[in-house]
Amino acid sequence: MLVSATEMLKKARDGHYAVGQFNINNLEWTKAILLTAQELNSPVILGVSEGAGKYMTGFKTVAAMVNAMVDSLGITVPVALHLDHGSYEGAKACIEAGFSSIMFDGSHYSIEENVAKTTELVELAHSKGISLEAEVGSIGGEEDGVVGAGEIADPAECAKISGLGIDFLAAGIGNIHGKYPENWKGLDFEALGKIHDATNGIPLVLHGGTGIPADMIKQAISLGVSKINVNTECQLSFAAATREYIEAGKDLQGKGFDPRKLLAPGFEAIKATVKEKMELFGSVNKA
Ligand code: 13P
Repeated sequence: MLVSATEMLKKARDGHYAVGQFNINNLEWTKAILLTAQELNSPVILGVSEGAGKYMTGFKTVAAMVNAMVDSLGITVPVALHLDHGSYEGAKACIEAGFSSIMFDGSHYSIEENVAKTTELVELAHSKGISLEAEVGSIGGEEDGVVGAGEIADPAECAKISGLGIDFLAAGIGNIHGKYPENWKGLDFEALGKIHDATNGIPLVLHGGTGIPADMIKQAISLGVSKINVNTECQLSFAAATREYIEAGKDLQGKGFDPRKLLAPGFEAIKATVKEKMELFGSVNKA
């Protein structure tokens, strides 16, 4: 059974570790992440962007697949199915479709409109036992057509949004989706410290987990980050392993073209990446 992310993130905050949100794209991704979480006895959050939801034919398909897979693989660690960077309409659709956690990203609205929409959605989500993540200040880079400028969130706005009864808060601290550019200045820990002080202990979310050095991850966790989102890194691992298989001509040997063989190295590569992140985030044996 899927659970909301509220309890697992409160436990993470109190235990000074972070739970990984790993974005899914298809069956292989979902299976790789669920099996790794179970093997490592770690809680896990499966992230679904609106683009990935469309790709998988809709949020209902995703919820049905994840629910069935948790059951048929005998997964017993806590699993949340979470909408990543949801629009107002997308959030409502996922609440209906059976997601157990929602991110409403109102960071591109005025703070007043972000407050109004977040307030409405938090009530709706909580009436169904679903957790809600909100965002203040856009995060840099591009993900599924959503472009942010790498802003730093204003602690006063963070205080305002976190006071709306939301369960966890994403706040820009110089983090960017996708690969970090050579000249990236790193996470802004002064900003994170101020946000942490202004938000009354609410679990904080770090987006753009791909490529953030281990020491910065650890420092972020020490300043209240309890959820870290990783997407691109699994895509890069999958692509590299698939490339190696094809370049070695393995698809041309025997039944190497069988998708169950062709996708196997990429599947194993996702598992290895998720394992590495869970170990770094400290969520192993925290189920
Ligand atoms: P990356 O793709 O940079 O890992 O970011 C993932 C993310 O923040 C999803 O919301």
